[in-house]
Amino acid sequence: MAFSPAFLDELVARNPIEEVVGQYVNLRRSGGNLFGLCPFHGEKTASFSVAPDKGIYYCFGCHKGGGVINFMMEIENLSYPDAVRALAKRAGIEVPEDEQYQSRYRKQERLWALNKEAARFFHSTLYGGDGREGLRYALSRGFDKATLTRFGIGFAPQGWSGMVDAMRKKGYTDEELREAGLVSEKNGRIYDRFRNRLMFPIIDVRGNVIGFGGRVMDNSTPKYLNSPETEIFNKRKNLFALNIAKKTKLGYIILVEGYMDAIALHQYGFDCAVASLGTSLTAEHAALLSRYTDQVVLIYDGDDAGQNATKRAIPILENVGLRVKVLRMRDAKDPDEFLKKFGADRFRVLLEESSNRVEYQLEAIRRKYDLTQDEQRIRFVQEAAELIGSLPGEAQREIYGGRAAEMGKITADAMKIEVRKARGRRLAREKKARQKEELSPAAKLRPKTLQIRYDNLRSAMAEEMVVSMVLRAPEMTRSVPGLSGSRFSCSLLGRVFDQIRSREEQGLEVSAAVLEDLTPDEAAHIAGILQRQDNPVSQQALSDCANIILTENQLASMNPSEDLMALRQKLKERKGINP
Ligand code: UTP
Ligand code: MN
Repeated sequence: MAFSPAFLDELVARNPIEEVVGQYVNLRRSGGNLFGLCPFHGEKTASFSVAPDKGIYYCFGCHKGGGVINFMMEIENLSYPDAVRALAKRAGIEVPEDEQYQSRYRKQERLWALNKEAARFFHSTLYGGDGREGLRYALSRGFDKATLTRFGIGFAPQGWSGMVDAMRKKGYTDEELREAGLVSEKNGRIYDRFRNRLMFPIIDVRGNVIGFGGRVMDNSTPKYLNSPETEIFNKRKNLFALNIAKKTKLGYIILVEGYMDAIALHQYGFDCAVASLGTSLTAEHAALLSRYTDQVVLIYDGDDAGQNATKRAIPILENVGLRVKVLRMRDAKDPDEFLKKFGADRFRVLLEESSNRVEYQLEAIRRKYDLTQDEQRIRFVQEAAELIGSLPGEAQREIYGGRAAEMGKITADAMKIEVRKARGRRLAREKKARQKEELSPAAKLRPKTLQIRYDNLRSAMAEEMVVSMVLRAPEMTRSVPGLSGSRFSCSLLGRVFDQIRSREEQGLEVSAAVLEDLTPDEAAHIAGILQRQDNPVSQQALSDCANIILTENQLASMNPSEDLMALRQKLKERKGINP
């Protein structure tokens, strides 16, 4: 899908990067740049920069970066055309595009609109005659009116076609009802998928209704019926209530298993609760959470399944830089039940007591073994030492080592030795893994992403400077007519150079934000160059760099035997010997 350069110019001009990024990140000005906490990885110091004059963002920590379109792709998890579209919508400009794309996008919009209509239908049904049972059940579960409204909770009536009929009246086709996952089908006839259930709309972070969960009101099964996966509904990428929790001021997000738990937490004042949608936590969920918080409190049920889910979830969350705490449910099976029994204040105590994941994991290891048996105690000590040896801080190892020693009833010194051994093994493993990388002294200068390689560092450094200069002063491409992208050692930088020249020649706007056909890694790489290479633009420097590139290119294209012959020739000349 190619958009016209003129359109992209307008799009980028009408979506200043600092404004778009500012919708997601708190930015503070410092010199010409703005800084904030990176939305793509967890951090405490602001290494995420936005350069309004260059039209780029770049994180010095995780090396993500690019123009405003890349930012939208990354933060909203969109494809390139969808990101363009979202920005066009934001700026109120029309997108010129081909039939196929238009129809696909229109379909998405239709499905969102249909789901929203369905949610309205369910919600209003809750307060009508057909919804009496539903409302009674909702109230019996302790929901107040404000909660019913805030979550748009509704009721799917008993019959077979209440919702279908209402949606047809609104002009939706059977095909659309199928595609939205709102109906089931038998003998070619569609009927309401959700019947006689309390309905929870699932809303994504942009506010679109993407699906539903429906709960029975008795003990029949399945207890919850969810929308199937559709073009707009992906359980692995969405979390229930995140549309509300993302605005919390509490500074952390509580992750629970159930719709009911999340809703109850909100009603009791914990407006930071989200629930996974009946699937185990995915890396996509974690990445999504890390955009809105740097700390997650995990609350899974106390049973074995819940314990295992917790164990699985911890590394997934930590991998995206989130700090993890684990709350062990006590005296109730889930937060919903707990809140009703004991209230918000007691729950707050649980939250404060909620242990960091090390305490939690240590406890989990302890429970695996019978510590009255020597054999098992030894295994406990070994496993605990592995865990503690993986902790980065000396003080942390000291504290948890002491605790583990107490649990295993061995001396603190003996535990220390075990931890040191475990840590030694671990560091050796890590060192080995790093060694390959560090063998090359130029590793530091190399691009941070694996996809982009510099085969000729001398040339590549010159290429970086050229790109950074002509992006700021595109007219200078005219002063190096002999230089073309094909001579660059790094094809990415060559491509970018050619694009800049071609846009300049066509009289189009040139900025990092309008570069096309870049993968996210490539865009980030270019943004990184721009943020690092801030030296002033100078004609002399540009010519010098061009010379280096052309020379290196020539050397590279010489085949070795030619090279040798040229050298021999030179030597002979110098010595004054005739061939
Ligand atoms: P729970 O059974 O713990 O749900 O399942 P809950 O929210 O506490 O419900 P109540 O309190 O019994 O009313 C946890 C989550 O697992 C998914 C749902 O997302 C639910 O919220 N689930 C559960 C299903 O998708 N289908 C089911 O049949 C059961
Ligand atoms: Mn429950």
